[in-house]
Amino acid sequence: MKSFVFHNPTKLIFGKDQVESLNDHLPEHTQNVLLVYGGGSIKKNGVYDQVMEQLNKKGVTVTELSGVEPNPKLTTVHKGVDLCREHNIDFILAVGGGSVIDAVKTIATGAKYDGDAWDLVTRKAVPQDALPFGTVLTMAATASEMNGGSVITNWETNEKYGWGAAPYTYPTFSILDPQNTVTVPKDQTVYGIVDMMTHLMEQYFHEETQSPVQDEMIEGVLRAIIDTAPKLLEDLSNYDHRETIMYAGTLGLNGMMQMGYKGDWASHNIEHAVSAVYDIPHAGGLAILFPNWMEHNVDVQTHRFARLAEKVFGVETQGISEKEAGLEGAKELRKFWNSLGAPETLADYEITDEKFDTIVDRAMKRGPFGNFSQLQEEDVYRILELSK
Ligand code: NZQ
Ligand code: ZN
Repeated sequence: MKSFVFHNPTKLIFGKDQVESLNDHLPEHTQNVLLVYGGGSIKKNGVYDQVMEQLNKKGVTVTELSGVEPNPKLTTVHKGVDLCREHNIDFILAVGGGSVIDAVKTIATGAKYDGDAWDLVTRKAVPQDALPFGTVLTMAATASEMNGGSVITNWETNEKYGWGAAPYTYPTFSILDPQNTVTVPKDQTVYGIVDMMTHLMEQYFHEETQSPVQDEMIEGVLRAIIDTAPKLLEDLSNYDHRETIMYAGTLGLNGMMQMGYKGDWASHNIEHAVSAVYDIPHAGGLAILFPNWMEHNVDVQTHRFARLAEKVFGVETQGISEKEAGLEGAKELRKFWNSLGAPETLADYEITDEKFDTIVDRAMKRGPFGNFSQLQEEDVYRILELSK
C-alpha cells in the first residue's frame, strides 16, 4: 500500500425517520437556506414535506432551486450561484440523488468564486472557500452523499467532467433514510446497483500488489449486492433490501475501499465522455462499457480478474487458465446485469460509431488515463468498438 491520510468530514446519519433530526445538524445560526432538488420526485413521495416541516420549525428563510436534471447542467449550476448571491444564502440543502448533490457541490463553491463555476470543474481555478451544504439522499447509487466528487455537464461544448476539492465539496452531513428510496422506479434502482458495483470494481482493479483487506471488503460488498439486488427488484418497497443497497452504495465510493491505492476509473472517464455527447443514464453507459474494459485489459494482472470471477461470481476455475477464468467473470457480470434489465450495447441507446471521434476526443481531454492500465486513444476506440 502507499502511505495515505484519510479524512472524510461528512457526518453520516442513517436510518428510519432520520430527516426529523435535520435541525440538529444545520449550523446553529443558519438563516437563509437554498433548497435544491430535481424534477419533482420529492414532491410526490413526501420527502419535500418532511424537509420543509423541519426547516419551518427552525424558522429559516427558504429559497428553492428545482429542476436539477439527471446529468446536471452547468446552466443549472449558474442559476444556483445567482440565487445564492441574490438571497444571501448561508446554507445549501440538496434533496435528491447524485445529480442534485453534484450540482450543489459546484454551486456551493461557485458562489464563493469570482469567475465562472466552469473554471472549477475544468480545474482552471481551485476553490478557496465554499458555502456549507448538507444532503438528504433519495436514491442509492453514486455515494456523492459522502465524497467530494461532483460531475457536471456543459451542453454548449459537450463536455462532462468530474472534479472535487477537499474539504469544500464534501457535505457537512448527509441524512440517509432507506424509506425515502422505496419510490425509486425499477430502472433507476437498477442503474444505482450497476453504478455502485462499478465503483467497487474500478477500485478492485488498482496498481498495488498488497491489498488483502481491501480486496476482501470489496468482494464482500459485491456479494451482498448480488445477493440482494434480485430480491429488491422483486419487491421494490422492501425496507431491508433498500437499506442494504443504500449502505452498499455509500461504502462503494466514500473512500473506505481505496485507502492506500488509486482505483482505475478509466471506465468512468469513458462513460462521462459518452454521456457528454449522448444524454444517457450514467450507469446505463457503465453497464455497457465496463465488461468490455475487463475484456480489453484481461492480460494486465490476469490473476485479479480470475480472483474476482471465482470469489464474486462463483466461476469454477479448476482446469481452466487464469485468462479463461477472468473472461468468464466478465461474462457472468454482463449476464447478471442483463438479468436485472441493464443495457448491453450502445445500440440499445441507438448510439452508432458516428460520433466515436468526438467521444474519444472528450475522453482523452486530460491525456492518457486509467491507473490500473493506462489507456491511449486506440484503447478507447477498441472498448467503444466492443461496445457497439
Ligand atoms: O429528478 P427527480 O424527479 O428527483 O428524479 C430522479 C431522477 O429522474 C429520480 N429519483 C431520485 N430519487 C428518487 C427518484 N425517483 C423516485 N423516488 C426517489 N426517491 O432518479 C432519477 C435519477 O437521479 P440522479 O440523481 O440523476 O441519479 P444518480 O444518483 O444515479 O446520479 C447520477 C449522476 O451522478 C454522477 C453521474 O455522472 C450522473 O450525473 N456521478 C457522480 C459521482 C460522484 N459525485 O461521486 C460518481 C458517479 O460515478 C457518477 O459519475
Ligand atoms: Zn459512477
